[in-house]
Amino acid sequence: MKASTAASRSALDAEPDEIPAAGYSRWSPQRLRREGSYWRARILSTAVHIELFDWLGERAKGSRTARRRFGGSQEGWKVFLDALTAMGLLHKRAGQYRNSVFALRHLRSGGAAFFLPEHDAWNAWRALPELLTTGKRPKTSRPFLTDRKRSERLLRSLDRDARKIAPYLIERFSLEGTESLLDVGGGLGSFALAWCRRFTQLRATVIEHPRVAPLARRKIRNAHLEKRMHVLALDIAKDPLPRRFDVVLISNVLHGQGARENRRLLKSAYRSLNRGGRLILRDVLMNREGTDPEWGALFSVSLLLHTPRGRCYALDEVNRWLRQAGFSLTEGPFRSSPLFFDPDSILIARKG
Ligand SMILES: C[S@@+](CC[C@H](N)C(=O)[O-])C[C@H]1O[C@@H](n2cnc3c(N)ncnc32)[C@H](O)[C@@H]1O
Repeated sequence: MKASTAASRSALDAEPDEIPAAGYSRWSPQRLRREGSYWRARILSTAVHIELFDWLGERAKGSRTARRRFGGSQEGWKVFLDALTAMGLLHKRAGQYRNSVFALRHLRSGGAAFFLPEHDAWNAWRALPELLTTGKRPKTSRPFLTDRKRSERLLRSLDRDARKIAPYLIERFSLEGTESLLDVGGGLGSFALAWCRRFTQLRATVIEHPRVAPLARRKIRNAHLEKRMHVLALDIAKDPLPRRFDVVLISNVLHGQGARENRRLLKSAYRSLNRGGRLILRDVLMNREGTDPEWGALFSVSLLLHTPRGRCYALDEVNRWLRQAGFSLTEGPFRSSPLFFDPDSILIARKG
């Protein structure tokens, strides 16, 4: 950038617009410009999707080498790599591009895999105006029950997060002396697996939809825990849960279903528990108005696009369902992990 352009740019950046005027709260005209643009997000998620940062590795490479590796035109690669350089993720010298220290640390080897489900969901978001005006929602949950490849990407990304969150959960919600755990909609079974590793007396059953169950079985086989863990393929929207468990975990399942299905599921979870057993419920729990936390309010829009009836539910609503299901005492909400990106809370409900 020429010095004069740089100077005028920074003068622009320092515009008084940035200072929120009375009544504007968190918004400013500058923020409005930034939030309306998805260019950065698309460029970044595309680079993660094609594993560009892994391909660059520790070496400097040019647009011609990129064309040889990925196809397309050298011109296209130059424009794309220049944009990543402008964003500060790559460095450019004499026509050659290198990963920045940040990219080396955080964007390689699956470190930014959380971008991939977002990348996959791009087409779904196009339907938002139509959805709002017609009210038409998907007939089945996407991608879990519709697209094996995308479902696997999302489950792997959830598994990565779960591995970071599990030590915190295990520390606070000890399953010492507990014999049996039922993990409902357990995905790859990440939480059940972590608890079984920590408490060697524990046996766990992971409930998953028939489309996802084989992936969970593979994960458990690879962890050599088949003797203490098994996967039951069920449709939780229709089938009753198995019985006689000390603890039932329902993590990030309620938001994927409608209120009626959730009331049924919680009743079924109650019947699954032994007397004195505990239900550990993990999800985004909203205020009564559905506006806080902000992440949950935005996620609910995504759920309009991806599920037939899902959304994030209010704490009051979930507590009411728990009482209706028969649970006597509810504790929480507790934080679900120390990680800044984890928007979930935990509720513990007991069967008296
Ligand atoms: C958001 S994921 C949560 C995974 C895991 N419990 C976690 O917290 O990371 C929701 C899970 O519910 C499962 N699920 C959705 N609908 C289901 C159904 N009707 N029957 C069984 N499982 C279902 C999905 O396959 C998916 O693995």
